[in-house]
Amino acid sequence: MPSPLDNLLIAADEALRTLAGVATAARKAPEASRETALDAAQARESAALMRVNHAGEICAQALYSGQALVARDERVRAALVAAGAEERDHLAWCRDRLEELGDRPSYLGPFWYAGSFAFGVASGLAGDRWSLGFLAETEAQVERHLDGHLERLPEGDARSRAILEQMRADENRHGQAGRVLGGAELPLPVKMAMRAFSRVMTRTAYRI
Ligand SMILES: [Fe+2]
Ligand SMILES: [Fe+2]
Repeated sequence: MPSPLDNLLIAADEALRTLAGVATAARKAPEASRETALDAAQARESAALMRVNHAGEICAQALYSGQALVARDERVRAALVAAGAEERDHLAWCRDRLEELGDRPSYLGPFWYAGSFAFGVASGLAGDRWSLGFLAETEAQVERHLDGHLERLPEGDARSRAILEQMRADENRHGQAGRVLGGAELPLPVKMAMRAFSRVMTRTAYRI
């Protein structure tokens, strides 16, 4: 059994890896079924969207790390760690795609991480049922967000589209796991606070 100090060190290590951009994917990035063809303006638009998604995956790492740190039930912790590992793939895929598009991650990564980590710890401290409900609600909001981005992506960007589609399928599974393990339906004000945070994040990371 890891001690509380071990768990804190693990959380610190996860934060540094996420923010240093050295996360590696366990799964290969999804392949596009056709060629990607973008002009300069389309590449810029794709990059802005993928910067938002990369920032979202920084948030996902922080949320799951914060929740796992204070989870009570070992099954809940295991589910959080398993989902977090898939989120690490998303993080690496988005980062690599951003690089292919000749762009850079959001400058505000540490800020997104800190805010999301606090959300994760708070939901974990409220108890496992709330923590799982928080997970399910997060994933539902992320899915809706990804639907929007799949529509906004430039038509020719088959590479980014393949990545977002795989992410969407994974987020759907994470959300289901949260509900199956007994996640509680969150109160509306909490859902609204989560939406407000992600609105600030998505609008800001689009530019900086
Ligand atoms: Fe994700
Ligand atoms: Fe997820």
